[in-house]
Amino acid sequence: MKKQGFDTKAIHAGLEKFSPDSMSVPIYQSVAYPYADAKEAAAIFTGEKPGYTYGRWDNPTVAVFEKRLAALENTESAIATASGMSAIFLLTHHLLSPGDAVVSSNRVYGGTFGLFETGLKKMGSQVHWVTAPDDISAWAAAITPKTKFLFVETPSNPALFVADIPALAALAKKHHLPLVVDNTIATPALQSPIDLGASVVVHSTTKYICGNGSSLGGIICGSRELVEGIRQSSIRYLGPAMSPFHAWLNLLGLETLGLRMERHCLNAMVVARFLEKHPRVETVNYPGLDSNPYRKLMGTNKMKGFSSLMSFVIKGNYADAVKFIDALKVLTHATHLGTCRSIVTHPASTTHSAMGETEMRKAGISPAMVRFSIGLEDKEDLIADIERALG
Ligand SMILES: Cc1ncc(COP(=O)(O)O)c(C=O)c1O
Repeated sequence: MKKQGFDTKAIHAGLEKFSPDSMSVPIYQSVAYPYADAKEAAAIFTGEKPGYTYGRWDNPTVAVFEKRLAALENTESAIATASGMSAIFLLTHHLLSPGDAVVSSNRVYGGTFGLFETGLKKMGSQVHWVTAPDDISAWAAAITPKTKFLFVETPSNPALFVADIPALAALAKKHHLPLVVDNTIATPALQSPIDLGASVVVHSTTKYICGNGSSLGGIICGSRELVEGIRQSSIRYLGPAMSPFHAWLNLLGLETLGLRMERHCLNAMVVARFLEKHPRVETVNYPGLDSNPYRKLMGTNKMKGFSSLMSFVIKGNYADAVKFIDALKVLTHATHLGTCRSIVTHPASTTHSAMGETEMRKAGISPAMVRFSIGLEDKEDLIADIERALG
């Protein structure tokens, strides 16, 4: 049979025949699954018989979401988690032992920065930051015999760094290391890191995949060996599983992801072009702009669009940035992204504040930087709101 397209998979992949059958995936709001007898229980636990064991590591509703995302990311398997951060944490817990290291771009979400910078030390491992992530030789120089994986968030939050994924994947392969890509901002609707040579994809499904800010979630997509390793050791002992209800919300979100991402990209391009021409704006970071240095990587990474996250620097200082933010009425001021509602955030005082001033500067974040996650409203209303608030 011909390979199915993205939107068909986003609606059908992983669907089981439930009894009685239903249009929407049933929510199995249960942590345990009664067995016919002791023989069946033992067979399910050893894996001789298919079945479910306990809600911390398996659930029928969550399983549909896992299979669907594995299909969309072209991986053998996937494991859903309670949040994006728990996905990244479980991965590091699984791949790193005391003494080991991860090599990561320093252009990452503030929570990931904190986990790598301070959390890993508590587990006896460490991060080697790549502060010039455009430069493949800087990645190569950071790799040591202790390195267990390379980590890149692309496009990155909030500075919109875009990595050359095939070049990084080739480097990882040369050193027999997995390349892990945080694909939260692009989503599988716009970018397929596995097809470009990456080994593992992680997501905060809290963002575009869910799409309306209703539930926290995360997922790790990779080989069956990796995913089952995490299921049988890390998540089983640490416990941050995705709830069945959140899996159901995420499944609803996936059904319209392709469609939403098209509109997100169109609206974002209109807003970025408007900002670029505005006299009160110093610089705009949106990879879709012709003037952006990462625009050329769209072809390299076979991207269908650059999503709707952007950041820009207002002429002036911190006070000017927050005055502008407070004046917006259609865009909502919140520490979130990827929803139908457009969102404005001030990274230096919220999402990335824990990095501290020096590390923020190194990662391209300044006090006058404003972040937009452009939603699905009418573009004319967004432009009118931004124009009025810029004054
Ligand atoms: C790129 C990226 N990865 C991971 C995370 C963490 O996700 P969560 O908030 O679901 O834990 C975020 C959160 O903003 C993010 O932007």
